[in-house]
Amino acid sequence: MKTVRDIEYFDGVKVLVRVDFNVPIKNEAVVDDFRIRAILPTIDFLKIKGVKIILISHLETIDGDNGSLEPVARYLNKLNCPVLFIKDWKSAPQIIDNQIKNGECVLLENIRFFEGEKKNDPKFAKELASLADIYVNEAFPVSHREHASIVGVPKLLPSYVGLQFEKEVKNISKAFNPTHPFVFILGGAKFSTKLPLIERFADVADTIFIGGALANDSLKARGYNVGESKISDGTIDISKIVSRLNIMLPVDVTIKDRSQKNIKDIGANDCIVDVGARTLELIQEKINQAKFLLWNGPLDPYEDGYVEGTEAVAKMIAEATKKGAESIVGGGDTLAAIMNLAIEDKFTFVSSGGGAMLDFLATGTLPGIDALNSL
Ligand code: 3PG
Repeated sequence: MKTVRDIEYFDGVKVLVRVDFNVPIKNEAVVDDFRIRAILPTIDFLKIKGVKIILISHLETIDGDNGSLEPVARYLNKLNCPVLFIKDWKSAPQIIDNQIKNGECVLLENIRFFEGEKKNDPKFAKELASLADIYVNEAFPVSHREHASIVGVPKLLPSYVGLQFEKEVKNISKAFNPTHPFVFILGGAKFSTKLPLIERFADVADTIFIGGALANDSLKARGYNVGESKISDGTIDISKIVSRLNIMLPVDVTIKDRSQKNIKDIGANDCIVDVGARTLELIQEKINQAKFLLWNGPLDPYEDGYVEGTEAVAKMIAEATKKGAESIVGGGDTLAAIMNLAIEDKFTFVSSGGGAMLDFLATGTLPGIDALNSL
């Protein structure tokens, strides 16, 4: 993978940088800037090289709402990274050619306002490519999507990755050749999407702890009653994989009224929302022994205010890292918990990716990487 360091710079070169500014915004203000800060070194690097920087990003909530990137432009200006926000894409070529100088930066309005992006429309990719001379993918968190700005444009321009993208690949790849004991903690939901990952790591990790709604599926597959707990709606048979000896599941859980129960005692009306105290002790024991820790996904519905299990594990991994273990963590809610505790600098590496991190772990590559390699 070639990085921005490998670009042959020339006077007036225009660089289209696909970034992921899909950050939480409330009342028109950025509320979590982890992804923004993560890519600033690449912008600074390009500024010093004196190129014209064209930033492109999407912004879409889980409910599918596309918002304006204007609050992000304002935020970048506050961070001492001045950008000119271009709301009307039609005026972009003219502004880039005539109004901005070498070493300056523009941010274009949300790319998902155009249908061609998600459809990977070749005509749209061509229009995007015509804005610049060089393409840089600095959008690791969305590089699992086959969208025009991720897989279309790099086939049309000399393409490179940004400094954060390089770090993501380098650090997450450590999980393919880890030191042992290797403990993998996987939470969240949708078993069907995580099965390839569990299968891949079942032979690599010494322990895989499964938490979150995935644990409910797993407990059910092991024959426990999970009452009214959230389970995946898929019909895949996971009984074989969850019977593996290195797959660890909760032994006790917290239910919706905040009481704790042994997994044998879950009733028909109970709804599991978190792991229990004994399970946390067992996780702590595993983490204490581990030399390599990989974590993605909450152990509880974190966004609904059930935070205890997830935050406890975040602290345990941070502590183990202090004592010398390597830790790679990522995922939307995982990151939210870490940020909430203000311990984001206490891990070996915090990935800015959620789904992209999981797909990279499962397959060792991403569509956005393959597109670069195809040049
Ligand atoms: C993310 O937030 O996970 C990435 O930005 C990808 O967003 P998407 O799921 O809307 O494609």
